[in-house]
Amino acid sequence: MKIPCCSAVKQVDPEVFAAIRGELLRQQNKLELIASENFVSSAVLEATGSVLTNKYAEGYPGRRYYGGCEYADVVEQLAIDRAKEIFGAEHANVQPHSGSQANTAVFLAALDPGDRILGLDLNHGGHLTHGMKINISGKFFESHSYHVSPKDCQVDFDVLRSKAKKVRPKLLIAGGSAYPRALDFTAYREIADEVGALLMVDAAHIAGIVAAGLHMNPVPYSDFVTSTTHKTLCGPRGGLILCKKKHAKAVDSAVFPGTQGGPLMHIIAAKAVAFKEAMQADFVDYQKRVLANAAALADGFLSRGVDVVSGGTDTHLLLLDLRKSGITGLELQNRLDQVNITCNKNTIPFETESPRITSGVRLGTPALTSRGFNTQDMDLIAGLIADAIHDYDAKKDRITREVATLCERYPLYADL
Ligand SMILES: Cc1ncc(COP(=O)(O)O)c(C=O)c1O
Repeated sequence: MKIPCCSAVKQVDPEVFAAIRGELLRQQNKLELIASENFVSSAVLEATGSVLTNKYAEGYPGRRYYGGCEYADVVEQLAIDRAKEIFGAEHANVQPHSGSQANTAVFLAALDPGDRILGLDLNHGGHLTHGMKINISGKFFESHSYHVSPKDCQVDFDVLRSKAKKVRPKLLIAGGSAYPRALDFTAYREIADEVGALLMVDAAHIAGIVAAGLHMNPVPYSDFVTSTTHKTLCGPRGGLILCKKKHAKAVDSAVFPGTQGGPLMHIIAAKAVAFKEAMQADFVDYQKRVLANAAALADGFLSRGVDVVSGGTDTHLLLLDLRKSGITGLELQNRLDQVNITCNKNTIPFETESPRITSGVRLGTPALTSRGFNTQDMDLIAGLIADAIHDYDAKKDRITREVATLCERYPLYADL
């Protein structure tokens, strides 16, 4: 496979071509440990670069505001049907351009300005669209946060229940960006029912694990489930909303015309392809390896004296707590960048540093698992990162060499 229109880009715009080429080499020659990133299949990449980018298709299959939508209808209906089947959902909207757009659309569907929402605090693993004060979710709604327990850094449902009883939110939000533990959606549902709230689960990070049946499925317990399609779900960058039939009309009109115009049909085609891939038996095997790799990575740190928030992980991601290592998240992110390991600094629960500095680093295994890395490799990588924490100046050249060897062992997009 070739990068779509790569040779034409080279001819028309050498500067952009050089950047695309540079990005390909970066992905091939560095270890990608950002928990929210992945490498799509050649089929998803092709669909993303297809002629469907040319098509306006405002509306929904069979109900469009433009002519010539017969093929747009085919791909969108395929994506909808597959999303419903994978997650057992009554209704799916595959048009949100991103996870944030999906969340905003649910807010528009479920809330009036000024209504109360209750989501997991950003520093405790939540997402900025769950009520951060400068996000639309915190500006247009009265946002409140719940926190993880200082005991084990996990959601304490008794504490959440009393907070929910005090706040009486119209929408309770579960899920987050840096929460490494499995979530119990029955407990969320019970609390939502007790306080008369709607329940939205943001499954952006865990969607692929759910699709493989390896994490509790939020769909039966929630009014709305939102997701990105580009993380564990292995699709193109984009968003997804699943909901009960009774919310279908409100969700569809909140996406279009409520918060978006024309859908990105090339992306929706790529979502359909990714969903088909997620329905294959080898997808379950892939997700099992993602989880085993994350567990091995966490064990690798713990055995080398590096703290892991909550003592480990049940998912694809983990958070290093660097407080006792004498290094900040920013410093470790910078050191790792220099030895070709890519990650992001991240606040940790009960953080004392600013979000630009942080005491933590978030790591995830979806991307390296897509390249073929196994649990032994994860132990090796934990060792390299522990060396970067404890003995960087002496070890950085050796770490860089070992990273290069690993990247060579697991080629990525070799035919591009
Ligand atoms: C839990 C969660 N929700 C929503 C989003 C937003 O997705 P996007 O970046 O596609 O807007 C993210 C992104 O990382 C996320 O982790």
